[in-house]
Amino acid sequence: MRTDTGEIIHLEDYRPTDFVLERVDLTFELDPRETKVEARLIFHRREGVSPDAPLILDGDELKMTGLLFDQEEILAANYDVADDSLTIRNLPATAPFEITITTEVNPEANTKLMGLYRTSNVYCTQCEAEGFRRITYFPDRPDVLAVYTVNIIADKQTAPLLLANGNYLGGASMGDGRHFAAWFDPHPKPSYLFALVAGDLGVVEDTFTTMSGREVALRIYVEHGKEPRAAYAMDALKRSMKWDEEVFGREYDLDIFMIVAVSDFNMGAMENKGLNVFNDKYVLADPQTATDADYANIEAIIAHEYFHNWTGNRITCRDWFQLCLKEGLTVYRDHEFSADQRSRTVKRVAEVRHLKAEQFPEDAGPLAHPVRPTKYREINNFYTTTVYEKGSEVTRMLATVLGPDLFKKGMDLYFDRHDGQAVTIEDFVACFAEVSKRDMTQFSLWYHQAGTPLVTASTAYDAAKQVFTLSLEQMVPPTPGQSTKEPMHIPLRVGLLLEDGSEAALSSATGAEVTGDVIHLVERKQTVTFTGIVSRPVLSLNRGFSAPINLHFEQTPADRAHIARHESDLFARWQALNDLALPNLVAATAIAREGAKAECDRALIDALLAAAADARLEPAFRAQALALPSEADVAREIGSNNNPDAIHAGRQDIMTAIAKAGRDIFSTLADEMVVDGPFSPDAASAGRRALRNTALSYLVYAENQPDRALDAFKSANNMTDLSQALTILAHRFPDDRKTVEALSAFKARFGDNALVIDKWFTIQATIPGADALGRVRTLMADPLFNSTNPNRVRALVGTFAFSNPTGFNRADGEGYRFLARQILDIDPRNPQLAARILTSMRSWRSLEDVRAEHALNALREIAAAPKLSVDVSDIVERMLK
Ligand code: ARG
Ligand code: ZN
Repeated sequence: MRTDTGEIIHLEDYRPTDFVLERVDLTFELDPRETKVEARLIFHRREGVSPDAPLILDGDELKMTGLLFDQEEILAANYDVADDSLTIRNLPATAPFEITITTEVNPEANTKLMGLYRTSNVYCTQCEAEGFRRITYFPDRPDVLAVYTVNIIADKQTAPLLLANGNYLGGASMGDGRHFAAWFDPHPKPSYLFALVAGDLGVVEDTFTTMSGREVALRIYVEHGKEPRAAYAMDALKRSMKWDEEVFGREYDLDIFMIVAVSDFNMGAMENKGLNVFNDKYVLADPQTATDADYANIEAIIAHEYFHNWTGNRITCRDWFQLCLKEGLTVYRDHEFSADQRSRTVKRVAEVRHLKAEQFPEDAGPLAHPVRPTKYREINNFYTTTVYEKGSEVTRMLATVLGPDLFKKGMDLYFDRHDGQAVTIEDFVACFAEVSKRDMTQFSLWYHQAGTPLVTASTAYDAAKQVFTLSLEQMVPPTPGQSTKEPMHIPLRVGLLLEDGSEAALSSATGAEVTGDVIHLVERKQTVTFTGIVSRPVLSLNRGFSAPINLHFEQTPADRAHIARHESDLFARWQALNDLALPNLVAATAIAREGAKAECDRALIDALLAAAADARLEPAFRAQALALPSEADVAREIGSNNNPDAIHAGRQDIMTAIAKAGRDIFSTLADEMVVDGPFSPDAASAGRRALRNTALSYLVYAENQPDRALDAFKSANNMTDLSQALTILAHRFPDDRKTVEALSAFKARFGDNALVIDKWFTIQATIPGADALGRVRTLMADPLFNSTNPNRVRALVGTFAFSNPTGFNRADGEGYRFLARQILDIDPRNPQLAARILTSMRSWRSLEDVRAEHALNALREIAAAPKLSVDVSDIVERMLK
């Protein structure tokens, strides 16, 4: 299977390899420019495969310097080699044989950051999805599982540390200034989980005793001097290990678990067996340099990668179409972990906000694809929010449909039955079908049908008969390659709230299966009837966001306000506030488009301020309640013919109205929510900071002058408060002398801390308005800008395109033209990074005509460029279709 040529790969073409790989022995002689890799691979022909079938191995930009069959030279007539494949003919019909391949790679020249590369003088690898073939010729696909031994030889001085997967076997000096180390991983694994790290790093050490009493060594490697900043990551790791034992019954399986933090990394982190490699952004934290959000991300990602040890590594994917098998499930697991460690409601609100902001637009645009796709050109472009976050939502729905006990039984069966295998979504779902005796065929459509289902609901109440009816209708919109859809199995959690604050029982329901508070919508149209309902109930629909759908339900502001005040499900309260706010923001947009000033409904103001002042609610929740839907949320709600300037202006009007009405409450909160004592990143303290900063931000709207934010900036003693204050200053008073001074003070103070300087770039890249582009251009000329570091590029160029709606979508199209040039500049170095940033234009068709035309031209400019990577050409072509 050659995937780097840009041909389309289809799920239906899957078949197992002709040869079974038994063992892998790798020897690396590390050199910054000329690393020698020797791979000894033991194969045998799979039973039933024709004796003529050649062995075909994958490669990518490889240079082969030697090839042996059972330690003998191979006749030239018996093989073909190119930089992207190696074919060997005339191999034994049944007997095992050994192929020894020597390749030479140049880590320093590897700017794609796939395969073996160098970052800050450290050798490091990234192999998922198809990076291993950049190290040696190999059957580089996830269903080829083998046991690996790895020998690493390197200069002792510059690379005192030599790491690979598994357990350490031993090592020694070699007398010539070099040394070696050997590692053995007893667990059969696919090549994408291979890792090697070598260099000079500092370490934080700890231990964990597993539930069966085995002691595991824990090590986190970071640059020298940064060890204290790895303490929180270590704490999160130990909590993750414990949680997976308690909640999923999963125990760690090697003697050592290592994490290495590197500063040049294309993604968040990677779950290589026993040797996770992390973007250092998701490891390093201390109060002076990391925000509460950074701490929460570190906790979540450490957990995510650790949880992959079972969901991903012990049980892996048969092919890359099954990516959600490990990613969707593991995101679900890390979400549940964070919910247990922090506040479940607050976590759920954050998840849903993120899902709607990132996944819903993907599902509604040209890049929409099923959670389990059936074709791809470039697999790297499928590490998407649909595979990850919607994949997690599908797992959550599975738990909702089955209930916790059967869900747990199904998971246990999955672990039991498939340990050590490379499997499919069908295998996964079959476990749940078996334990629940439910037919899961319709439910499986969640994996196969792209697009966010639209559910339309209407209700009627007959007071005389005490009957309440709920009519539901579902529609799944067409998406690329899927014009017609089948009705899905949509689990809707509901509550019928009665006037006296109690809830009506749902047991009388007819017309749909109801389990607990879940209505199972399975038909295109379904009417559910509830009897014995003594007063008109207020319907709370899709509690907890039990299904990832768009909901059309005309509910009065009074009913929404009732839910916001009285629902026992706190998530539903947040949802109701959101539903109250959105129509206001949409109306305000229309008014702003006419050049007028918008007013805000009293019902919304009252509901928001009631939540803000309600001391029974946790501060983090109140902060989320006060955070209005974003400009992107409003754009999505409007759907088409969008004018980002009008959305921004309208939202500013609403913010100002709320700020003025709530001035006293916000001022009280700003005082009350001060967190005394030394900094602690715990959820409760973070919640107080969040509420205080939200209040502060409203107060600045009300006062319309920078002093309060400036005071906060000067008195902040942690990065959360400091960066919030700086953001308020920069976004609201970008040209004020005080802002300019604050920005340069921040830069001077943190100039040597790359992760904080990323924040400095991000804050400025997201300043609203048409001047943003000029600012971004100036920042690109700053000596601190570095076009080869992915975090830095994402912080400036990525954030500008993804998170600055008014600046990026300038009416004259300059933002799009700028991005096109950036993409073409980044692409030859790092295609994955270029392709990812380009997806910021996925919603271009929902813009008003003038902007859409400019966006189209910019996309065409990219498409027409010579020598595009497969990564970028795949994205741009799908966006133009
Ligand atoms: N498996 C990694 C994770 O934990 C991400 C790998 C991303 N790889 C890629 N080629 N984009 O989510
Ligand atoms: Zn993952």
